Amino acid sequence: MKSWRALILLDSSNPVLSMKPTILVTGANGQLGTVLIPALRIRYGTDNVIASDLRPAAAYTGRFEVIDATNEDRLAEVVRDNGVTQIYHLAAILSASGEQDPLRTWRINMTALLNVLEVARKANVEKVFYPSTIAVFGESAQLTNTPNDSFLDPLTAYGISKAAGENWAQYYFVKYGLDVRSVRYPGVIGYQSDPGGGTTDYAVDIFHKAVLGKPYTCFLQEDEMLPMIFMDDAIRATIELMEAPSEGIKIRTSYNLSGLSFCPADLVAAIKVVYPDFQVDFAPDFRQEIASKWPDSIDDTPAREDWGWEPGFDLQQLVTAMIENLQKKYNNPNPRIGKNQAAA
Ligand SMILES: NC(=O)c1ccc[n+]([C@@H]2O[C@H](COP(=O)([O-])OP(=O)(O)OC[C@H]3O[C@@H](n4cnc5c(N)ncnc54)[C@H](O)[C@@H]3O)[C@@H](O)[C@H]2O)c1
Repeated sequence: MKSWRALILLDSSNPVLSMKPTILVTGANGQLGTVLIPALRIRYGTDNVIASDLRPAAAYTGRFEVIDATNEDRLAEVVRDNGVTQIYHLAAILSASGEQDPLRTWRINMTALLNVLEVARKANVEKVFYPSTIAVFGESAQLTNTPNDSFLDPLTAYGISKAAGENWAQYYFVKYGLDVRSVRYPGVIGYQSDPGGGTTDYAVDIFHKAVLGKPYTCFLQEDEMLPMIFMDDAIRATIELMEAPSEGIKIRTSYNLSGLSFCPADLVAAIKVVYPDFQVDFAPDFRQEIASKWPDSIDDTPAREDWGWEPGFDLQQLVTAMIENLQKKYNNPNPRIGKNQAAA
């Protein structure tokens, strides 16, 4: 099983590490940033990674700047004053939250991205990471093994903003030579942090309920198949893409990224191996409508060919890692895993 910890341990002779970038992460307090910040700090040094968000973070210590990414002057000031050489631009309003106020979602997501690109261009920042999403696909895309170059006609404000953002990323690369790199994350599943208002959040929430011995009501249909990725794989993919030689990065909009695919029924069955009494019912809400237009699975051949992407976690490994780590977090309130694992 490959994880970002293995990447860090195995790869410490990488010449990239001797260059020590100075990294700014926007939206650092979110589900991904909470895990990416420590990973970047282990890899590049604590003082070389500046976390930033709308408010100070409780999740980690170290360098932190309050930055509203829609404020270009503030962003420029922090980049200039700290000699930032790389920006990981995570700040965004996600799919489910975004549908509550579509125009605000568009304004925030686009203003923040264009500020990051402009500031990076003017300050000669070396690399920018821009996360896109499977939400860029809409009704025109083939739902199974969705190709990287599918036509993008997203049906959420979030997806529209990310599809536009991919094109802006490519524009800054082509017009200004700004080295912007991007992946389309599937639903990210991790035990370290809470999800921030996405359509795949059920696949994190469900584990917390199972470990706490509580019932769960799922907001998607039981057969709604979606592409997902374990957090360790998502973090490793991000760092691997950012460290790949520039000439290997042939797609400057965004790379499809695949981990695994499952539906709620598959996940419930895997969790019930550990917690046979786990109670789940289904009450699909507006997020089911969003999910029904998204791919079932993703073809990530270009990422594999161009920068060597390979996912490390299958469903069983993901379920085991989630339950073991949440048991530790909650001090083992519902400790069946030991019994069932021993029996297996
Ligand atoms: N989590 C997933 O499953 C997933 C899937 C696909 C893509 N992504 C993308 O990855 C990135 C990170 O996702 P996440 O799950 O960590 O999101 P999240 O919602 O958990 O966190 C987003 C963070 O951005 C911050 N933020 C919002 N507006 C801001 C602003 N104007 N200025 C500065 N900070 C602001 C929020 O305070 C929050 O801490 C996003 O761009 C998202 O679109 C995530």
